[in-house]
Amino acid sequence: MKYTIAVIPGDGIGPEVVNQAKKALDAVAEMYDHVFLYQEAQMGACAIERFGKPLPEETIAICKGADAILFGAIGDPKYDSDPGAKVRPEQGLLQLRQALGLFCNTRPVKAFDSLIKNSPLKREIIIGTDIIIYRELTGGIYSGKKETSTDGLTAFDISSYTVEEISRITHIAFKASQSRRKKVTLIDKANVLETSRLWRKTVTEIAKQYKDVVLEYLYIEHAARQLIINPKQFDIILTENLFGDIISDEASVISGSIGLLASSSIGPENALFEPIHGSFSTAKGKDTANPIGSILSAGMLLEYLGLHEEAGAIERAVEKSLILGIMTQDIKGKNKYPASTSNVGDFIADYILNQEDSN
Ligand code: IPM
Ligand code: MN
Repeated sequence: MKYTIAVIPGDGIGPEVVNQAKKALDAVAEMYDHVFLYQEAQMGACAIERFGKPLPEETIAICKGADAILFGAIGDPKYDSDPGAKVRPEQGLLQLRQALGLFCNTRPVKAFDSLIKNSPLKREIIIGTDIIIYRELTGGIYSGKKETSTDGLTAFDISSYTVEEISRITHIAFKASQSRRKKVTLIDKANVLETSRLWRKTVTEIAKQYKDVVLEYLYIEHAARQLIINPKQFDIILTENLFGDIISDEASVISGSIGLLASSSIGPENALFEPIHGSFSTAKGKDTANPIGSILSAGMLLEYLGLHEEAGAIERAVEKSLILGIMTQDIKGKNKYPASTSNVGDFIADYILNQEDSN
């Protein structure tokens, strides 16, 4: 089959990790007789430099016309050190999420057997952990009215949610849990926030349609502790935009490196796949960044296209690289001959080609 994939390398280490994901996709194309047509588009600090804005219209058009979107990373220290900057790279991604209605963000977190000792958490705590975080991605404090007063002394960000926004991701999360361990944990701050109370009410009502699924509730601060003390208690985590952003970075500690985690952001007609890590500009161009988050995102992209066997081939190749210790320095540490970004990408692409040869 032939598929069009919009590729947005973005900023910092984005281009180099996306290149490794493309190598994995090319290997899949060769083995399974597909054609992936890549259409490159700009977004982020690089787009501000070239077009004066973080999300050019052309990028939206390319994304809308593609079967799926592969994205690298966004952000540049130049803007981080200038809180007054009106135009910022991150606005590109936020605007793209809105333009395509990418409301459902999923972030799988697991303890890879071969990396158990790489997590700062104890082996017995993390072994067997397998969680999927469902983060609502277009509502809440991210997209509400925000303003700083003209005297610069006051600022606000409004968080709002509608029943409709809560319901659509809740149904997806419950359906996903039915083919897993049948447990959904809603994370909120319902003792303080009105939006959280609306989440609880709506999710509790919807849960009645999924009688085989257990629904639990945790306040965000309690959940942050539980995720470290006893992560195995979680199956599906369902939460709003800001809490999901924070808790997914925290959860990455379980896997051993934030560089390993992939994500999908799905809307009614489009879907974007990206590692959860940021642009890590100090490592830009050094060929040291971990490409696995990006490569596993390509795996999720294949899954979305219905190419399950192909997605499995990517996952097996990643597992193999970890088992053999072909890993970048974020996992391997400084003194143990870490592999480069492209070494890891090459190994994974080769393994995809060769494991199928041996079948
Ligand atoms: C993420 C990122 C983004 C977010 C930024 C880059 C806008 O941190 O996808 O987790 O906060 O959603
Ligand atoms: Mn984040």
